[in-house]
Amino acid sequence: MYDVYGVREDFPVLKDVVYLDNSATTQTPIPAVEAMIDYFYRYAGNYGRGAHRLARETTNRYEDARETVARFLNVESSKTVFTKNTTEGINLIANSYPWEVEDHIVTTLLEHHSNLLPWLRLQKMGVDVTVVNPDSKGIIDTSSIENAFTEKTKLVAITQVSNVFGSVQDVKSITKVAHRNGIKALVDGAQSAGHMPINLKDLDCDFFATAGHKGLLGPQGTGVLYVKEPDVLESASVGGGTVSDVSGSNYVLEPSPACFEAGTPNIPGVIGLGRAVEYVENIGISEIEAHDVKLSREAAKRLSELEYVEVYGPEDRTGIVPFNVKGLHPHDVALILDQTRRICVRSGHHCAIPITRFLKVNGTVRASFALYNTREEVDILVNAVSGLKALIS
Ligand code: ALA
Repeated sequence: MYDVYGVREDFPVLKDVVYLDNSATTQTPIPAVEAMIDYFYRYAGNYGRGAHRLARETTNRYEDARETVARFLNVESSKTVFTKNTTEGINLIANSYPWEVEDHIVTTLLEHHSNLLPWLRLQKMGVDVTVVNPDSKGIIDTSSIENAFTEKTKLVAITQVSNVFGSVQDVKSITKVAHRNGIKALVDGAQSAGHMPINLKDLDCDFFATAGHKGLLGPQGTGVLYVKEPDVLESASVGGGTVSDVSGSNYVLEPSPACFEAGTPNIPGVIGLGRAVEYVENIGISEIEAHDVKLSREAAKRLSELEYVEVYGPEDRTGIVPFNVKGLHPHDVALILDQTRRICVRSGHHCAIPITRFLKVNGTVRASFALYNTREEVDILVNAVSGLKALIS
């Protein structure tokens, strides 16, 4: 039996608010916060750079976190790179891949700006980009991706879970058709990691980027990038920690992951992230998925029963419920929910302007669920939105 009330004890802030903005950032559990405090109070040193005891302990703990994250995603730790967020991971791929003029990239209109802008920037340098449309529920058909492939296509870049719709894309079949055509696949896992089981060996994508501060429950300023074949890339970000030798005129890069982690990383953050991922593992990722899915589908169903509310996305959504209240701006709805019931939701275009325009709306209100939300919170949300009727009639 899933003990949501026990889980909530590990997140003190939840006593004060109805927190439904988990797609933007989740809260971090006490054991992960304590792991970071422990770093600062007991052994803070730099990572990979010193022989003394604090540097050794720091390096060991940082590498322990890498092992934990790699195990959780079922990949090798040598291919698991720490970044500061999903955006940095995707930019690292965009900037480190050896593109040639007229190479072609396929992506989708569904993407968060972080999985669109890096490719549009390459377009300015002569790389072609095709943006595939989803259906009205936010689903990308694998065949529409395949139809966009040309002889020059090098990469397909797609989100696993839309941060706007909560729709899940069949990234496994998209990866398969990409590989059949000799094309690499990048999966944006910002909204999937920590919300559903992810087995990257099985998924077989070439690159997977995610954030530490969302489903993985880690602190902000942490992210993870998986690179299946590190040798394909020439790291675009170099400096301290990335090289085995340097002369006045040249340098030799370290193997992955060191070659991708230039400069002193977010050491306490990574250590906190490792502990947070252990926390997720201990609760059980399948249990978390079932919990998020159940709450969000109930919220979506009940909100859609209100005749002045429009809910977007497919019925088989993950933990994300976007909606609008007829006649009210999404920001006004979000402010009223906060001021009247201390409900925290995000409103606006969710860093995905193209797909918001595709919906022909000014934005949406987005309630997004996580492992610590409750049925009572669904009731509070639905009752609060019901109360908005007075403002529109
Ligand atoms: N990408 C995050 C969101 O969708 C910030 O809110």
